[in-house]
Amino acid sequence: MKRRKFIQRAGLSGIGIAAASAGMSCAEQSKKTNDAPVSEAKEQALNLPIVIATWNVPKATEKAWEILNKGKSALEAVEQGVMVEEADEKNQTVGKGGIPDRDGIVTLDSCIMNSNGDYGAVLALENITHAVSVARKVMEDTPHVVLAGEGAKKFALESGFMEEDLLTDDSRKQWEKWKLKSEYKPIINIENHDTIGMLAMDKSGNLSGACTTSGMGYKMRGRVGDSAIIGAGLFVDNEIGAATATGLGEEVLKTVGSFLIVELMRQGLSPQKACEEAILRIVKKNRDFKNFQVGYIAINKKGETGYYSIQEWFSCTIYKNGVNKNIKSDYYYKPSDPEQ
Ligand code: GLY
Repeated sequence: MKRRKFIQRAGLSGIGIAAASAGMSCAEQSKKTNDAPVSEAKEQALNLPIVIATWNVPKATEKAWEILNKGKSALEAVEQGVMVEEADEKNQTVGKGGIPDRDGIVTLDSCIMNSNGDYGAVLALENITHAVSVARKVMEDTPHVVLAGEGAKKFALESGFMEEDLLTDDSRKQWEKWKLKSEYKPIINIENHDTIGMLAMDKSGNLSGACTTSGMGYKMRGRVGDSAIIGAGLFVDNEIGAATATGLGEEVLKTVGSFLIVELMRQGLSPQKACEEAILRIVKKNRDFKNFQVGYIAINKKGETGYYSIQEWFSCTIYKNGVNKNIKSDYYYKPSDPEQ
């Protein structure tokens, strides 16, 4: 009863309430929401499956959608979806071809989270393109949730991943140019692309998410951002929803942004309002907000989505109802607004 009241207060309908009204215990209900397939009618009402990803990444969302459409899990979809960007050498913010740190070394941060609340991550991983797959292996094949640096690489090689030079000619040339001045002005691309975060709800109504990045361009050696840190770059709660982040990781970390969004959705906020509130938390605490970008995307158990950023030019890609669409996000900082 207590549980039912809580879920109703949170404004959730559908799967959660159906389970609660059957008078289940919390543990039973959690198992139900994690595992049970939804009916066909519910699948249609929710427009399942759904994929949402940060930025304009139609190939990545298409890959995820293909997997979901075959009835496979959201976990499989988000892993294979973000792998498309990790393998794309032209994308200099994720995987192979990523902008290196100030010492010329490409280091990757990546994590994945499933509908049971399991999580795996790698921090500062070198020489392995598909960091997200190593993160999944950490989740599934080790008693741990995070492996970092040399240990993460050793684990990846032992698990059969191929060692590769991730610094492409393009990224090397740009780094050499940067070294001429060596100005420590971390680049966070506010116009185009940064980290890819992807959230998916499969045909069974289960949620998973993945987040992967080469991090801030020319960062200090050893710097780790938000992307692979649970609750910051990504959070999934299969009873409520999921959220993921892009942009200046330090600010996302300080406000535990993705966890915050999921908890705000738990309290009844829509994914859109929850993303807006998480951006406001950063803006209120940081007078320098005009000079950096953070963007969030979110999805709830009703299949509703939200997206919001500090600066203009953030977008997300949503694949639902068979349509793969890039959508420009609304944003906080509007220079013409005298209040700002
Ligand atoms: N959001 C990517 C990073 O800050 O590393």
